[in-house]
Amino acid sequence: MPAITSTVPGKVILFGEHAVVYGRPAIAVPVHQLQARAVVQADLRGPSGSVRLEAPDIGLSAGLDELRQDHPLRLAIRLVLQELGVEGPPASTVRVTSTIPVASGLGSGAAVSVAVIRAYATFLGHVLPIERVSALAFEVEKIHHGTPSGIDNTVVAYAMPVYYVRGSPGRIEPFQAAAPFTLVIGDTGIPSPTRRAVGDLRLAWEREPEPYERLFDAAGEIAERAREAVEAGRPLEMGPLMDENHALLQQMGVSCRELDHLVQAARRAGAQGAKLSGGGRGGNMIALVEPDRAEAVAQALREAGAVRTIITTIR
Ligand code: PMV
Repeated sequence: MPAITSTVPGKVILFGEHAVVYGRPAIAVPVHQLQARAVVQADLRGPSGSVRLEAPDIGLSAGLDELRQDHPLRLAIRLVLQELGVEGPPASTVRVTSTIPVASGLGSGAAVSVAVIRAYATFLGHVLPIERVSALAFEVEKIHHGTPSGIDNTVVAYAMPVYYVRGSPGRIEPFQAAAPFTLVIGDTGIPSPTRRAVGDLRLAWEREPEPYERLFDAAGEIAERAREAVEAGRPLEMGPLMDENHALLQQMGVSCRELDHLVQAARRAGAQGAKLSGGGRGGNMIALVEPDRAEAVAQALREAGAVRTIITTIR
C-alpha cells in the first residue's frame, strides 16, 4: 500500500482577528512557504488497530494510546475513526513534520490537524470533503485555543483566501485575489499566547461591552472594505486599512511594544500599511508592500528585531 501524504499551508489573518470571535467578518490567507505534512504508511507487522505517531520536530514517537486523552494528534486520529465509523483500522504509522513556527499565529496547530485528518481519512479509503476536514480540525483547535472562531482551520483546509464569519451557519467564502499582492511577515520571536489574549479581551468586554462592541464593528467594516479592494484588483487600498485595524487592535489591548515597533519599522521602510496578525501580544505582524519594496521592508524588520521574516505573494 503506497504512503498517503497530505501537505497543508500555514496562514496569516489579514483583517479582523479577535473581532471574529464576536461574530464580525475576518479575512485570512494561506502562506504556502510554510507547510505541515502528514504521511500515513501501512505497518504490515503491526497489530490491527494500532496507530503509531511520529513527530520528530517535537521529539514524539509513541503509540496512539500512550498519548494523553486530549493530545491533539490523538484526538485528530480518533475523530477520523469516529467520523468514518471505523473500528480496528489497519496498523499504520502517521509521521508529522512542519515548517510552520509554533505558537506564533501562523496556523501551525490547525495545519497539522488538517494534514493528519486528511491523510488518515484517505489512508482509510475516504476522501473527506473540505468542510468535514475543517470541522474535525475545529474540534482539535478547541484544545489549543479554548474558544476558537474557526478561522484558522478553515483557511488552511481550503488553502485559499477566506472571508469568514463564525456562527451557525456562519459564512465561509473562499475567494481569489483579482490581482496578486505581497506581504512581509515579521516575527517578534515572542510566543503568542492566543488563548490568554482572547481570554483577557473577553473579561474586558464582559465588564464593559459597549466600547469593545464599537471596536469590533469598526474592525468588521474594515474587513468588508478590504475584501472589496482585493476582489476589485486594488489590493494596495488595504494598506491604510491595515493601519486602521492595527490601531483598533491596540485599543483592544492585544498589541505589545515589540509588535508596535515592528509595525512602525515596516511603515518607515515604505510598506503600504502594517498590523499585528493573529492573537497578538507577540507572534507575527504583517506588512503590505509593493513587490520591489519587499526585501527592503524585510531587512528593516530584521534590523528592528524581527527574528524571522517571510515574503509571500497572495493570489
Ligand atoms: O493567533 P492565531 O493566528 O491562531 O489566531 C487567533 C485569531 C483570534 O481571532 C484572536 C482567535 C480566533 O479564534 O479567531
